[in-house]
Amino acid sequence: MPDTPDLQPATVAVTAGRPERVADNPLNEPITMASTYVAGGDVEYGRYGNPSWAAFEEALGALEGGRCLSFASGLATVATILDLVGQGQTVVAPRHSYNGTIMQLADLEARGRLTARLVDVADTKAVVEACDGASLVWLESPTNPALELADIPAITEAAHEAGAYVVVDNTFATPLLQRPLAQGVDLVVHSATKYLSGHSDALLGALVTGDDELYGVLKNRRDLVGAIPGTLEAWLALRGLRTLHLRIERAQANAQSLVTRLEAHPAVGEVRYPGFGAIVSIVLAEGALAADLLTRKTRLWVHATSLGGVESTFERRRRWKTEPATIPDALVRLSVGIEDVEDLWADLERALDDLTG
Ligand SMILES: Cc1ncc(COP(=O)(O)O)c(C=O)c1O
Repeated sequence: MPDTPDLQPATVAVTAGRPERVADNPLNEPITMASTYVAGGDVEYGRYGNPSWAAFEEALGALEGGRCLSFASGLATVATILDLVGQGQTVVAPRHSYNGTIMQLADLEARGRLTARLVDVADTKAVVEACDGASLVWLESPTNPALELADIPAITEAAHEAGAYVVVDNTFATPLLQRPLAQGVDLVVHSATKYLSGHSDALLGALVTGDDELYGVLKNRRDLVGAIPGTLEAWLALRGLRTLHLRIERAQANAQSLVTRLEAHPAVGEVRYPGFGAIVSIVLAEGALAADLLTRKTRLWVHATSLGGVESTFERRRRWKTEPATIPDALVRLSVGIEDVEDLWADLERALDDLTG
């Protein structure tokens, strides 16, 4: 783990994962395109390591407070972790986890590999009760796209008492707004595709842990299975990470300003916002058709899946057949970007006014 306890997160985001400061070394870790290395060192082969991944891992590890491994995507990270669950064991997970995570659990359950106990993650008592007999407690907080929050310390304590590992998908909050390892969690997961990279141009996943044994086991799995990141993607993600604090600050301020205005608009029946971050979910008063119309009426807001980029995007989540039926049909998830908030509101307001007019 890099030795950075005295530095603030914004400084860590900028300074961690740099090459050694000696004459003529570059300031940034270069893109190393290599499938193999001269024998006799620590890496040996391109599936086992790469300096460009290592630089990204050092920076994210320093921000989350643990040791990091990067993967081909967020879901490759999720699959590598779920692969460690023993035959027939039980996994507790939020019923409104990211739908790819839910689908992986459903697939493993259908093949008799494990039992998935899906819970309302905001109902701490129910989650604590569900921990009994589980070997893994998966948390996502805030959840995508329902934006529910988990009581991470209380659930972690109960899970550990039950002998279960605890994972938090920290994609929405990022280590700047929430540091689950400091709350006792065993593993943090990221779709680095989202805020960490921040420019909608790379797919990447990552995990971070403070447990050296767990790190070793997961590194062995990555070596064996080969769900490794692309070198360019890791480089892009680290470049994105350098401005994470500025992007989050601006996007969050924009989101908070939009929440107040959305709450007052008659076309909006409900606004969901957990109080931090830059994802806002709205439920259109006039139903799913109005939600679909909204996504076609804007000039700045882009109708697109994914989130966490510099540009504002939105989508009606139930357009995906795999989205849980408990997510409202008319829910539109907004990923608020870093544009001028007055331009964002003017564009959104015009489209919302059209729906009521
Ligand atoms: C919360 C969350 N976790 C995991 C993932 C999966 O990440 P990826 O698309 O990088 O595989 C996503 C993707 O949307 C997500 O939103």
